[in-house]
Amino acid sequence: MASPTAGGVVIVGSGLIGRSWAMLFASGGLKVKLYDIEQQQITNTLENIRKEMKSLEQSGSLKGSLSADQQLSLISGCGNLAEAVEGAMHIQECVPENLELKKKIFAQLDRIVDDRVILSSSSSCLLPSKLFTGLAHVKQCIVAHPVNPPYYVPLVELVPHPETAPATMDRTYALMRKIGQSPVRVLKEIDGFVLNRLQYAIISEAWRLVEEGIVSPNDLDLVMSDGLGMRYAFIGPLETMHLNAEGMVSYCDRYSDGMKRVLKTFGSVPEFSGATVDKVNQDMCMKVPDDPEHLTARRQWRDECLMKLAKLKHQVQPQ
Ligand code: NAI
Repeated sequence: MASPTAGGVVIVGSGLIGRSWAMLFASGGLKVKLYDIEQQQITNTLENIRKEMKSLEQSGSLKGSLSADQQLSLISGCGNLAEAVEGAMHIQECVPENLELKKKIFAQLDRIVDDRVILSSSSSCLLPSKLFTGLAHVKQCIVAHPVNPPYYVPLVELVPHPETAPATMDRTYALMRKIGQSPVRVLKEIDGFVLNRLQYAIISEAWRLVEEGIVSPNDLDLVMSDGLGMRYAFIGPLETMHLNAEGMVSYCDRYSDGMKRVLKTFGSVPEFSGATVDKVNQDMCMKVPDDPEHLTARRQWRDECLMKLAKLKHQVQPQ
């Protein structure tokens, strides 16, 4: 008899990211099994998902074409890993970001899976060559790195191991599209993947500008949220170049000297310590005190904004 998960997805690690993946896969009509080392965590996550889906449905923000009840009926918990993965087509690992722990999980999975299932890690920064080397099923392994909160920010970076089969990349890409996410193919693994390399470049220069007293921490953030970020929600830095002149060639002709001049003045990697931490922290805490209550409220507000932005992007960018 086929397992109840046949053709479905298994989430290994039902924390923050595992929960979001479960909701996304269910929104695409897929059966989802949640596994966690902590039985109580599975129970809590199922309850959290139920509440969140009902509230999303009420506010008209539930993803997919199925009702909350239909989506909820697709998700179940399982306290036994071997049972959970039987017949699954995709396993999404979401345990904490610890190389030894993740290697242990993938070695465990390697012993019990068949030759068809995709073994995918949510790792934010561990390289596939560190995670998957030596596994019998390495061709079926890939990193699918989501962005927090994945339910509202659709990007997923797909990062292959040097031995990952092209079909694994293609199938994972298609699956991400099916659940409404926006996958990108990272063609070769690199430390930080693409998103974090860009993010760290921005954080690094932001820190130097504040450290050198050029701008206050709050004004620095405004440059992004009311300036660059406004357009980056719709077009990337390369298309920005293309549109800000008569095409890319014209932009490079006009602005490359200026860009190179400024880029040469960038400083060394900041230490992210000492007086600058105090200065930035002071401004941030004036806006959002760093106690759990204020941080949670601000995250909720951020997620509501992202949800509205996602709706707007959907309206203005026909798929
Ligand atoms: P989390 O701490 O919220 O959840 C981890 C879950 O894994 C917990 O429920 C824990 O009980 C479970 N777990 C621990 N050991 C286990 C084992 N041996 N077998 C099964 N389950 C086990 O962590 P979070 O934030 O969900 O992160 C998961 C992964 O997603 C990490 O690799 C992280 O880097 C990545 N990620 C996290 C993002 C974030 O903003 N939190 C964003 C993008 C990726």
